[in-house]
Amino acid sequence: MSSDVAYEKMSDVESVRGEGLAKSQTYFRCLLLFTSLTTVLLALLFIQALLVPSLPPSTETTRPRLVLPRSCSDPCRISLVESIPEGLEFNSSVTHPSIYDTWLRLIQGAQSSLDIASFYWTMTNNDTRTKEPSAKPGEDILEELGKLSGTLPVRIAVNTPTSQPKGNLEFLISSGAQVRTVNMKELTTGVLHTKFWVVDKKHIYIGSANMDWRSLTQVKELGAVVYDCGCLAEDLGKIFEAYWYLGETESIPSPWPSDYNTAYNKDTPMELQLSGTDSLVYFSSSPPSFCPEGRTQDLVSILSVIGDAQQFVYIAVMNYLPTMEFSHPKRYWADIDTQLRRAAYERKVRVRLLISCWGSTSPIMFPFLRSLASVQDPNKSLDIQVKIFNVPATPKQKQIPYARVNHNKYMVTDKVAYIGTSNWSGDYFVNTAGSALVVNQTQAQSQSEEQSVQQQLQAVFERDWESPYSTLLSHGTADRTDLCHSA
Ligand SMILES: *[C@@H]1O[C@H](CO)[C@@H](O)[C@H](O)[C@H]1NC(C)=O
Ligand SMILES: *[C@@H]1O[C@H](CO)[C@@H](O)[C@H](O)[C@H]1NC(C)=O
Ligand SMILES: *[C@@H]1O[C@H](CO)[C@@H](O)[C@H](O)[C@H]1NC(C)=O
Ligand SMILES: *[C@@H]1O[C@H](CO)[C@@H](O)[C@H](O)[C@H]1NC(C)=O
Ligand SMILES: *[C@@H]1O[C@H](CO)[C@@H](O)[C@H](O)[C@H]1NC(C)=O
Repeated sequence: MSSDVAYEKMSDVESVRGEGLAKSQTYFRCLLLFTSLTTVLLALLFIQALLVPSLPPSTETTRPRLVLPRSCSDPCRISLVESIPEGLEFNSSVTHPSIYDTWLRLIQGAQSSLDIASFYWTMTNNDTRTKEPSAKPGEDILEELGKLSGTLPVRIAVNTPTSQPKGNLEFLISSGAQVRTVNMKELTTGVLHTKFWVVDKKHIYIGSANMDWRSLTQVKELGAVVYDCGCLAEDLGKIFEAYWYLGETESIPSPWPSDYNTAYNKDTPMELQLSGTDSLVYFSSSPPSFCPEGRTQDLVSILSVIGDAQQFVYIAVMNYLPTMEFSHPKRYWADIDTQLRRAAYERKVRVRLLISCWGSTSPIMFPFLRSLASVQDPNKSLDIQVKIFNVPATPKQKQIPYARVNHNKYMVTDKVAYIGTSNWSGDYFVNTAGSALVVNQTQAQSQSEEQSVQQQLQAVFERDWESPYSTLLSHGTADRTDLCHSA
């Protein structure tokens, strides 16, 4: 949470220490002594190397935790997947398989197991008290899941429902699924906001779509599916197992048992080919108390991806606020905001934010976004821009509760694709459970004709950014009624 502050304090301390010593003579004496000691040490090491040239370092046998494999040779295939709300049309050739088709394919292909991490379940018209033909895909998926639950192990981890309907979960339990509720309110005062699937311990889906019929036809969503990738499925499976464990124990272990540890994180990502492109991949997770040894925290991951960008950072999230949205008294929380301004100022990185607007958008979001967008001066190569994305709605579509919105939660830089499940405000990184797939294709060597996932995600962002549904946030655009057509 305070990593920026800690980082700045650390560099302050270092520069003060450096100056002080440089002025003092003892520094040079120390240096001299140090240099001669180092020389002796190096000489000793050299002699040892000559004597025993071929012995492997003996430490590895005593510390097996460090020798986990880092590379994966599974034939992993990745695809971006999207839900495009009915009636939304892009004049663009950028299209991806639908989330509905992807889920259906995963269910119909499942042979041994299905694990789903979810926030809430409203897959039918009955759940939303609507009579929408566009609920049919959601109802189909629920029915298929019911059938599957009778034939193989289906496990569902879900945030403990408060006011949300329980009908879907009851149906799935009666069909044979195992359901565990994770009481995030008690555990961390947050919610389980994660949305991912692990199928047969080798295929995964992760993205913004909830287990909600509207997420298939009335809300704009983005996710990724990876097929035939046991290595990634095993690692995401560990995050699922953590939720599963919490659903049973209702208390957070500290430290987590070592089964939940991972070798794959921002410093030692998994090396693999995704659809023929060399990639470094890991999953991040939040909140911090859900991160066993080795797991990179979601916020740390976001800050590092922004920090590593050299040309551009494109962000598409539903909500962006430099605050703890749900805390009382109010708290300002600018970790991400600061990192974006720093990238723009120090490295002249082009920053674009595509934020959503709908009836439930907090009005306080706009002054903060305008502040960010004011970091704009072509003469000084300061280049942050913000656009607001509106999903248009017919009068009939406006009747559908909590729909017609861009619910995407991703970021793409000149190097990395980050596909997450969290809104971007402090709460989501401090007490809400979420996770993200981070694909680093900095040194992408493509062995195929296909674009890398980083390039595909960039194309999705550019399609949306240039579309008529996006409006530039400038000083002139006064308030949310100008910007939020659906409000
Ligand atoms: C669609 O895009 C093409 C090329 O970018 C352009 O020529 C055409 O006018 C566009 N059509 C509409 C309806 O915007
Ligand atoms: C339909 O919704 C009502 C009220 O939300 C609920 O009590 C009932 O169980 C639901 N029926 C089905 C079949 O899910
Ligand atoms: C991406 O990978 C490169 C090495 O290829 C590494 O230097 C860089 O730090 C990585 N970036 C991120 C954000 O993890
Ligand atoms: C994410 O943000 C939207 C918009 O404010 C909000 O309606 C939604 O409830 C948020 N998600 C959670 C889990 O709070
Ligand atoms: C940029 O520089 C030019 C020439 O020096 C000047 O005319 C212009 O007003 C400057 N633009 C901004 C936004 O400061």
